[in-house]
Amino acid sequence: MRIDRLTLRGFRNYRDMTVTFPAAGAYITGANGSGKTNLLEAMYFLANQTSFRTTKREELQGWGTTQCRVDALITAPETQRQSELAIALSPHGRRLLINGKATREAYKFATYFAAVAFHPGTLNVLKGGPAGRRLLIDRGIASLHPAFVQTSLDCQRALKQRNALLRSATGPGNPTLEVWTERFINVALQITAARQEHVTVMNQTLATLCKSLGTDIGLLTLAYRPAVLAHCTPEVSDLLLASLPHAPQLRERLYAEAQRLQRGEMALGQTLFGPQRDDIAIYYRGREARSSASQGEQRLSAFLLIAALALAIQQRHGHQPVVLLDDVVSELDERNRHIVFGFLQSHDFQVFITDIDHRIWSQHLRDFPSFQVRQHNGQAELRPGPTPQHARCDVC
Ligand SMILES: Nc1ncnc2c1ncn2[C@@H]1O[C@H](COP(=O)(O)OP(=O)(O)OP(=O)(O)O)[C@@H](O)[C@H]1O
Ligand SMILES: [Mg+2]
Repeated sequence: MRIDRLTLRGFRNYRDMTVTFPAAGAYITGANGSGKTNLLEAMYFLANQTSFRTTKREELQGWGTTQCRVDALITAPETQRQSELAIALSPHGRRLLINGKATREAYKFATYFAAVAFHPGTLNVLKGGPAGRRLLIDRGIASLHPAFVQTSLDCQRALKQRNALLRSATGPGNPTLEVWTERFINVALQITAARQEHVTVMNQTLATLCKSLGTDIGLLTLAYRPAVLAHCTPEVSDLLLASLPHAPQLRERLYAEAQRLQRGEMALGQTLFGPQRDDIAIYYRGREARSSASQGEQRLSAFLLIAALALAIQQRHGHQPVVLLDDVVSELDERNRHIVFGFLQSHDFQVFITDIDHRIWSQHLRDFPSFQVRQHNGQAELRPGPTPQHARCDVC
């Protein structure tokens, strides 16, 4: 899949801008605060109906406006299908349009356009707490299995209901609480099974990817750590995870946790077991990346996770997602940059890379189309950047 044309109206600092992109993508440069991340965010938003840096949709609307819209002409090279996609936000909510016709089916929309993104926030996944890692994994699952979005919403709803009941004064033995405990455990098992399957798929893809990028790159692996198995030995934990999706013993364990933690849950008014407490450990060269990997290694690892997801989407759906790389290359050393560029050159993804200037582009990627973001009349605009000819003069 590729974006041939993109129009942003009222999206952050883009008032009204249309740009045509080459099939390869673009190396996009611009000063700090010019609108590079906003541009990639708009593409990601169109594909995933969520931003990679905020959960508040109104933040996407240009200041002083109450609506915004992203339109794109998308081509699927595998089928040569061209489609006009749009996502619009207004005080009435969100609208998705396929070839001018509104649709409520986000699953259907997802079959027209997919995008994965590395952005500085991806680094928090490695460095920060488990919530970021759960989000990364859950978004990855959703891009491979769109129905997972509903499972995730069902889980959040069951959790909210259960928490509300725990806060009410009715106490243990309340039949409504028992009903919601059962519902929560049912959906918790589905989430656990989906996360376990995703970690397995990602590990297989990462192994192939790391090998293809060079023997000295080292291996990046994921290990799923469900909270319900926190006190199990690794052997028991592996055995129980292998019995998913039905896993009667895992179900029993979740009920046992509900029982064991009941007093604390009543006191806090909060569910203290379940997938909202899971973690996913990320290992680089056999050590946990969070504590052992250097800044550059963490950045490379985050890139590899995104690259592996792009490959997994391609393997599952047969189409290639657009790859968005915000601020990834400027912070990497030469060797790691070559790993990133090696990946891009050996695959056919349409790629958008941002950077503050075109120095790296002129050293490594002169044949890649370049664009510049500039402020013009108080709004961001995208113009063609230097050509290979021009770059040679710059370097002289
Ligand atoms: N809702 C909004 N409406 C208008 N402008 C916004 C909105 N949200 C953010 N901005 C502004 O958009 C500008 C560009 O932001 P963006 O994050 O895209 O910059 P950038 O080019 O990625 O910069 P950097 O190189 O520092 O990462 C910023 O000055 C920011 O304040
Ligand atoms: Mg930025």
